[in-house]
Amino acid sequence: MPTDAAAQSQHAMHHTEVLDSAVAPRFAHRVRFTRGALDTANPALRALFASDPGIAARRAVVVLDAGVAAAQPDLAARLHAYLDAHSGAVPAICEVATVPGGEDAKADTRVADLVVDLVERHRIDRKSFVIAIGGGAVLDAAGYGAAIAHRGVRLVRIPTTVLAQDDAAMGVKNGINRFGKKNFVGAFAVPFAVLCDELLLASLPDAVYRAGFSEAVKIALLKEPAYFARIERDAARIAARDLDAASPVIRRSAELHLRHIVDGGDPFEANEARPLDFGHWAAHRLESMSRHAVSHGDAVALGLLLDCRYSNLRGWLSDAGHARIRACIAALGLPTRHPLLADSGALLAGLEEFREHLGGRLTVTMLRSHAPADGGPEHFSGFEVHELDAGLVARAASELA
Ligand SMILES: NC(=O)c1ccc[n+]([C@@H]2O[C@H](COP(=O)([O-])OP(=O)(O)OC[C@H]3O[C@@H](n4cnc5c(N)ncnc54)[C@H](O)[C@@H]3O)[C@@H](O)[C@H]2O)c1
Ligand SMILES: [Zn+2]
Repeated sequence: MPTDAAAQSQHAMHHTEVLDSAVAPRFAHRVRFTRGALDTANPALRALFASDPGIAARRAVVVLDAGVAAAQPDLAARLHAYLDAHSGAVPAICEVATVPGGEDAKADTRVADLVVDLVERHRIDRKSFVIAIGGGAVLDAAGYGAAIAHRGVRLVRIPTTVLAQDDAAMGVKNGINRFGKKNFVGAFAVPFAVLCDELLLASLPDAVYRAGFSEAVKIALLKEPAYFARIERDAARIAARDLDAASPVIRRSAELHLRHIVDGGDPFEANEARPLDFGHWAAHRLESMSRHAVSHGDAVALGLLLDCRYSNLRGWLSDAGHARIRACIAALGLPTRHPLLADSGALLAGLEEFREHLGGRLTVTMLRSHAPADGGPEHFSGFEVHELDAGLVARAASELA
């Protein structure tokens, strides 16, 4: 038995002073939608910088998606002209660097390294800017570079795909792929501003354009029955690229993603549940299995179909509800089958990858039907499960192969 004195001295030696604190920084997340952002008469881009009294001394480097540069060859010149016309109220542009677009931008550290180099070469300080223009992949890779240079220089995102406008650019994270795994390296970082211009979408190939609506379907199913009904109603017009039908759907998706991130209480994803990743465990795996031949948006469409069929097989989602969701995804011109889904073993290996990426227990969102009392159309809600029945996943996947 230790004596009282010995116990006391041991206690003193092991004394731990506890300074634990909650860190709750506040960020402004500026998000704007406009048309014709680079028309010199449009004040939207200039207005992004209005909160900065030192703007006249700020500099910017621009990272431009090569796919956009090829499809809109006058874009860099128009950006120069805009910034020249508003000189003193916007940052001075030092260089426009064109980088590979699509998932290649996230394949290695080249784009992020280039951003770090540009920051050094042009003396971009932490109050100055990286302006990234492109699809979600270029925004993710350039955003990662901007987040690590000087531990974070200001990032302005100008998204140029449907998916980047209705989802990716709203996020407060960036990333690149490594070890054949999506977004293995990256950081949480709130952008300085996001400016969406629907006219920039005009040059998108049809498949890239349509792929972006899978994220709109995802968030509509989880958050807003009337919004899902609108997408169902207008799906054919959206697929035919009727902007009157598509623009409100893109904007609402962006807003619902933004609201979830800003008001959901977990912007940096510390919790186990990540409802915005509905349909994504299989989607990320399918992208990697296909070596990115399947785009993120297409993979999300297939991942949603898989998890909806699984929910249906488990008795959570009605046959009618399942049929409606399938029909909506098909009417949007999104894929409803892929041969790689025949390999359910390889697919299921993605579950552990997904769990590791989120941390903690496996948490996957599934869908449930609710029959309304008044006899109207049923609606849906997401809920979390912590294990999946491998046999039923294999059955659902084989039907989509
Ligand atoms: N950070 C986040 O919160 C978040 C959220 C969702 C998705 N993402 C990521 O976004 C990526 C997918 O982004 P995406 O769907 O925008 O596709 P993408 O960035 O892969 O771009 C697809 C293709 O379109 C081209 N392109 C882009 N804009 C164009 C335009 N206006 N005209 C002609 N061509 C154009 C690109 O060069 C590329 O070849 C994935 O890597 C995904 O993981 C990130
Ligand atoms: Zn996604």
